[in-house]
Amino acid sequence: MTDATPVTPHDMPSETPAQDVAERVNNRSQRPDSAAFKAFITSGWAPRAALDVEPLAAAPFTAARRDALSARFPGARLVVPAGALSVRSNDTDYRFRPHSAFAHLTGLGTDQEPDAVLVLHPSAGGGHHAVLYVRPLAPRDTEEFYADSRYGEFWVGARPSLDDVTTVTGIEARHVDELRDALAKDVGEGGVTLLVVTGADAGVEALVEAIRAEAGSDTIAGTDVTGSEAVDADLVEAVSELRLVKDAHEIEQMRQAVDATIAGFAEVVRNLPRATAHRRGERVIETTFDAHARLEGNTVGYETIAAGGEHATTLHWIRNDGVVRSGEMVLLDAGVEVESLYTADITRTLPVDGVYTETQRRIYTAVLDAADAAFAVAVPGARFRDIHAAAMEVIAARLEEWGLLPVTAAESLSPEGQQHRRWMVHGTSHHLGMDVHDCAQARRDLYLDGVLEPGMVFTIEPGLYFKSDDLTVPEEYRGIGVRIEDDVLVTAEGNENLSAALPRRAEDVEAWIASLLD
Ligand code: GLY
Ligand code: MN
Ligand code: MN
Repeated sequence: MTDATPVTPHDMPSETPAQDVAERVNNRSQRPDSAAFKAFITSGWAPRAALDVEPLAAAPFTAARRDALSARFPGARLVVPAGALSVRSNDTDYRFRPHSAFAHLTGLGTDQEPDAVLVLHPSAGGGHHAVLYVRPLAPRDTEEFYADSRYGEFWVGARPSLDDVTTVTGIEARHVDELRDALAKDVGEGGVTLLVVTGADAGVEALVEAIRAEAGSDTIAGTDVTGSEAVDADLVEAVSELRLVKDAHEIEQMRQAVDATIAGFAEVVRNLPRATAHRRGERVIETTFDAHARLEGNTVGYETIAAGGEHATTLHWIRNDGVVRSGEMVLLDAGVEVESLYTADITRTLPVDGVYTETQRRIYTAVLDAADAAFAVAVPGARFRDIHAAAMEVIAARLEEWGLLPVTAAESLSPEGQQHRRWMVHGTSHHLGMDVHDCAQARRDLYLDGVLEPGMVFTIEPGLYFKSDDLTVPEEYRGIGVRIEDDVLVTAEGNENLSAALPRRAEDVEAWIASLLD
């Protein structure tokens, strides 16, 4: 971190004046305060070069998404915050990532744009008019330009102007300082209801609450919803459900995310010798994949799971500090998030030596067969829950065959049984998109009980996990975890495995590893 002139204890004046604790965050800074400095640093700059901005290819699609949301909330003002910067420690922030609903409705991705708020204002003649409230680039004669480490151009680079934002998104842009008045207009007596996507920006939520309280308004006309929390939940649900069926642009982005992820898996295999040689081989795998994600996309869509041997039985093993041992398998669950923020979510369980042992292959094949059974039913008209049921039939049958179930497979599959879930406690599928677990706030009858439609994208990811201290399974199974996860697009004809280019069958995985390590 830049700190050009740190104040060390040796530099401190011997008689320090009393100082408020809150101000001590500036202890290390010796920014000059003189009028001469201010006049000098704010002058002598060439005219700003225009930012190299072009309209987003997503813009026509985001307009259609906003129209769909508009139709669901006639007359209401809809507030969709990008979110605020979030502190990692003291005065350093996490890299910014906008809320997915904001990114979906504006097309902005990567780190754009802290504190921005999309507002759909109800129009007099019906429908809505979209305005993006942003904090534009500050002029060079402001302190923000050189002194603000969170927003200043000297510190974080030039941010887009209001015109730039409009060029890129196709949405009218206004200064975020206008947000309060714009939100409050006609709320309450004027008949306008204010709804906010909660969970993105606590400051914007507090602002909305304050405006509602002033106006005595917390209801949606025409519904029996009475609490402000409940009406906001309707909007949260709507923006989540809007993503259940992906449009053509989203599907293209998902393909890019999957392709970049597959290339990342190949990079990991090329680095397997380095992983087995290192005391923290899992970190070699994690950092190889994550470097690839930063180079080829925005970042990873979730923390990479790099689990050697027994660690694979910990479903979300992200500490990744273990060894990668010869004779064992390594489970890699990882996804590249592209700049538009769509992410893949793929898992392969690889033999470290390039060849599965007999026991590993038996377990691997059972999981693969469960996945294939799930693919067979993931077609338009089926229910989302049928995918899991198909996978579980195979898993229960294999566990029965191996003598591991205390009951028959049929008894285990009944709601009163479910003993087979001891070895696969997670679900088989989740929707996938901008959030790795996408559309999570959708209603149950559209998600778990929902009917599959072309354009839906989700994972199929059965697994079997035998912990090393599981006394119910024979010794040879203990310490083995296998998951196979692919990303699936429902098509008019059936489905497409978007990640089919990454080998799945045990012999294909072996041949692929051999080809990369030659
Ligand atoms: N990587 C998290 C999951 O598979 O759902
Ligand atoms: Mn997943
Ligand atoms: Mn996964």
